Amino acid sequence: MCGIVGYVGPRPSQGILLAGLARLEYRGYDSAGVAVIDETGSLGMRKKAGKLSALRDSLADAALPDGNTGIGHTRWATHGGPTDGNAHPHLADDDRLALIHNGIIENFAPLRDELAAAGVAFRSETDTEVAAALLEREYRSNGGDLQLAFRSVVNRLEGAFTLLAMHEDHPGLVVGARRNSPLVIGLGEGENFLGSDVAAFVEHTRKALAIGQDQIVSITPDAVTVTDFFGTPVQAEPFDVSWDAAAAEKGGWSSFMAKEVAEQPEAVANTIRGRIQGDQVVIPELDGLDDLFTGINRVIITACGTASYAALVGKYAIEQWARVPVDVELAHEFRYRDPVIGADTLVVSISQSGETMDTLMAVKYARERGARTLSVCNTQGATIPRESDAVVYTHAGPEVAVASTKAFSAQITALLLLGLHMGRVRGSVADASVDVAELAALPEKIAKVLETENDHVSQLAGWMADTRSVLFLGRHVGYPIALEGALKLKEISYIHAEGFAAGELKHGPIALIEPGQPVFVLVPSPRHSALVHSKVVSNIQEIRARGARVIVVAEEGDAAVLPFADEVIHIPLAGPMFEPLLAVVPLQIFAMALATAKGLDVDQPRNLAKSVTVE
Ligand code: G6P
Repeated sequence: MCGIVGYVGPRPSQGILLAGLARLEYRGYDSAGVAVIDETGSLGMRKKAGKLSALRDSLADAALPDGNTGIGHTRWATHGGPTDGNAHPHLADDDRLALIHNGIIENFAPLRDELAAAGVAFRSETDTEVAAALLEREYRSNGGDLQLAFRSVVNRLEGAFTLLAMHEDHPGLVVGARRNSPLVIGLGEGENFLGSDVAAFVEHTRKALAIGQDQIVSITPDAVTVTDFFGTPVQAEPFDVSWDAAAAEKGGWSSFMAKEVAEQPEAVANTIRGRIQGDQVVIPELDGLDDLFTGINRVIITACGTASYAALVGKYAIEQWARVPVDVELAHEFRYRDPVIGADTLVVSISQSGETMDTLMAVKYARERGARTLSVCNTQGATIPRESDAVVYTHAGPEVAVASTKAFSAQITALLLLGLHMGRVRGSVADASVDVAELAALPEKIAKVLETENDHVSQLAGWMADTRSVLFLGRHVGYPIALEGALKLKEISYIHAEGFAAGELKHGPIALIEPGQPVFVLVPSPRHSALVHSKVVSNIQEIRARGARVIVVAEEGDAAVLPFADEVIHIPLAGPMFEPLLAVVPLQIFAMALATAKGLDVDQPRNLAKSVTVE
C-alpha cells in the first residue's frame, strides 16, 4: 500500500528515488511521482498515473532538474482515483512545499472544510492534499520552521499515516512521521534515507533505524533526529538488514513470482536453521518466554489473505502437538465483535509484511484486552513484531511479487516449529525426533516437486488457459491448501476459483459440478489415515460421476486414485503436517503458468497491493 522513499545527501536524488520506488512498487502501482529540490534551490515535481514506467517515460521525455534532496511515492489509490492529479507528491505554499502520504487521514473531511473556508483551493480529491495545505498554514504562521509546523500537523491528523515532506526553503532536510503505518531510516555515509521498508534503500546501506509509533524524524545528510509527536527526543532502534540488494532482484527469472516459487527450498531451510537442537525444536528467540505457552488455555491465530491459510495449517499443528485449543480468526473480523480473550489467551499473528493494518489492529486489540501476543513475520523492523510480546521471524528473504508464495511456505514452517516448541515446553511432545527429521527433509522434497512437476503443471495450465472456473478440494491440512490454491488463481489469473473442504462438497458446492469442470483434489496420504484417504477418494468419485475433470495431487505410489483421475501430480512422501508444503507448490506453478498463458503480469496483478496498510 503506497511506497515512500526520501533522500538527502551529496548525490543527485532522482535515480536513487526511482530505484527505491522500483523496489517498493509491490506496495502499489497505480501512479507514481517524485519531487526534488534542484541545484538552484527550487522544488520541482513530476507525477504520472500508471505504473512507475509511465513516470520514467515522462522523465525521459522531459527531464526534471535534479538535486540532492528528494521524495518519491508509488500509490495504491484510496481517496480519489488513480489519476495524474491524485498521484503524490502534493504541493502547497506556491509549489514550494511537497508532501507524500501512505495511509488514510480519517478526519480529512472536517479539515478540508476548515481549509476551504479559509480560502484554500484544492487540486485533487485526496485526503493527502489536506495535510499539505495544513502544513503550509502552520509553516507560514510559525515563520518558516518546517519541523515545528510538521509537528503541529501530525497532531491534528487522525487515522493511519506515514508522511514525508520537504520545503524549498530547507534544502537538505526531509521530515517524516508515522502513525500505524511503516517508515524506516537508512543510515548512509554523509547521506540518509527514509523508506516504507528497507527495500527502498538496501542497495545503498544495510544499516537501518526502526521508528516507533507516533514518532517524527528529520534527516539531513549528516544527522538523523527522532522525537515523539510532542518534540521529546527518542532513541530509535538500530538494526542491520539481513539481506542484500541482489536478493530483491529478478536475477534472470521471468518474474519475481517465478523466482520466489523456486526459492522455497531455501526459504524453508532458512526458517528452520538454528531452531533444531538434537531431536528437539528450540526457537532461541523464545528463550525465557515459556510462560507465553504454559500460562494459557487457548490460542487464537489471526491473519489476512494467504497468511490466514498458513494459520489454518498452524491450527492443526499446534493442537496436535501442544494440545491446546486453537481458533483461526481473520484479523478484520476479530476486533469488531467482542471476543472472549484475556491473560490466558495467546494471540498469534501472521504477516509477511508485518504491516497489514487489519492484522496490526487485531494485535493491538488483543494486547489491550490483556492477551499475550506473538507474531510470525518476515520483515525486520516491521510494526507488528514491535507491537507483540514475542516474534518468530520467517527467514524467507524479501518477497516482491504481490501473490505470496515463499513467505507462505516459510509461515507454515514457522508454525510447525512453533507447534513443536510449544509442545516441548508444555510437556505434550516427549519425542519430536520423527517430526524433526521431517522438517529437516522438507527443503529437499520441495526442490523435488519443483524439479519433477514444473513442466507437467505448466503444460496443464497452458491447456486450460480458457477455463472460466476452477475448484479446489482438500481435507485436514489439505483444506487450507485448497483455499490457497484458489486464492493464487484468483489473484493473478482473474479466473473464478473456490476452495472447499472436500467433505463440504455434498452440502452445496457439488451443484457447481458440470461436465468438464476442472477440480483439483488434494489427496492425503493413505499412510496417515486410511479413513481420511478413502473419504477423499469417495469425494473424487462423486464429482467424477458428474463429469468433473479431476486433477489429483497425491503422494508418489498412491495407486488408489489413479483410476479416477484425469491428471495426477505427484508429491514425495511426507508426514501429515508436512504435506501442505509440498502440495501447495504445484498449485502455485499452475496459477503462475495460467496467468502467463493469458498474457497477464503475474507480479503486479490488477487492483491488489502486497502490503495493505489501510483497514
Ligand atoms: C494482501 C496481499 C496478500 C497477503 C495479505 C496479507 O492482501 O495481497 O497476498 O496475503 O495482504 O499480507 P501480510 O503481509 O500480512 O502477510
